Amino acid sequence: MSKSEIRSYLKNKVDVFYFDTIDSTNNEAKRKSSSLADTPLLFVSNHQSMGRGRLGRTFYSPNDTGLYMSLMLKADKNTQDIVCMTTATAVCVTNAISKLCDVDPKIKWVNDIYISNKKVCGILCEAVTDPDSHKISGIIIGIGINIKTTDFPAELENIAVSLGQAVDKNRLCALITDNIIDMYKDIQSRSFIEEYKRRSLVLGKKITYTENGEAKQAKALDIDNNGGLIIETEDGTKTLSTGEITVRLKND
Ligand code: BTN
Repeated sequence: MSKSEIRSYLKNKVDVFYFDTIDSTNNEAKRKSSSLADTPLLFVSNHQSMGRGRLGRTFYSPNDTGLYMSLMLKADKNTQDIVCMTTATAVCVTNAISKLCDVDPKIKWVNDIYISNKKVCGILCEAVTDPDSHKISGIIIGIGINIKTTDFPAELENIAVSLGQAVDKNRLCALITDNIIDMYKDIQSRSFIEEYKRRSLVLGKKITYTENGEAKQAKALDIDNNGGLIIETEDGTKTLSTGEITVRLKND
């Protein structure tokens, strides 16, 4: 990958920063957050020594075999629209993958991307807060895709998968970036929700969620306009707005 090749595919104006190795592209975005203006900043690395996932987990990021990128956008929308970018990004990434590769990726709520019932991509969205005003000034959208990783650590072997297809990572990175920037401009329309539902791995299925530290069973019914998961529980219908669920997949 290279900065010039990524830029050659980009349609939107973006400042691109490319690294052979870095601790985490999300960390690098945070370090550069004071230089965020109207032009989005994109950080891409060929390797991450401390790739981070949701809920304090690590994200396995070996040399060469994955796409590790963070896009930082100015938070010039209302908070609910910004929160929705977590959900919207999953649609942006699945659309880019299915355009460039011969696969039909699915989304496991909230924003894990699956192929053949295994996770191929994780998304970590983080807010940047202005130190003076304490308001959200930016949003960092971190995306990690296993492109051709084969040597997953033992704990990931049964749950992670690679795209398994030759794909130009520069082009994929640029297309994901353009998809997200275009989506962000129009985020208030929630145009991504229908596509999100179509790609959902959980709708109609039995799921397990956690409430007050207790695992509970429910059925996933629908996705609301803010990306919340509407579930049917023993006590009636509820909406989950964040957290993690488990769903029984065919190969479990
Ligand atoms: C998850 O699966 O929980 C989210 C994983 C997000 C990984 C990406 S890789 C690029 C960016 N930098 C990080 O440290 N994390 C995100």
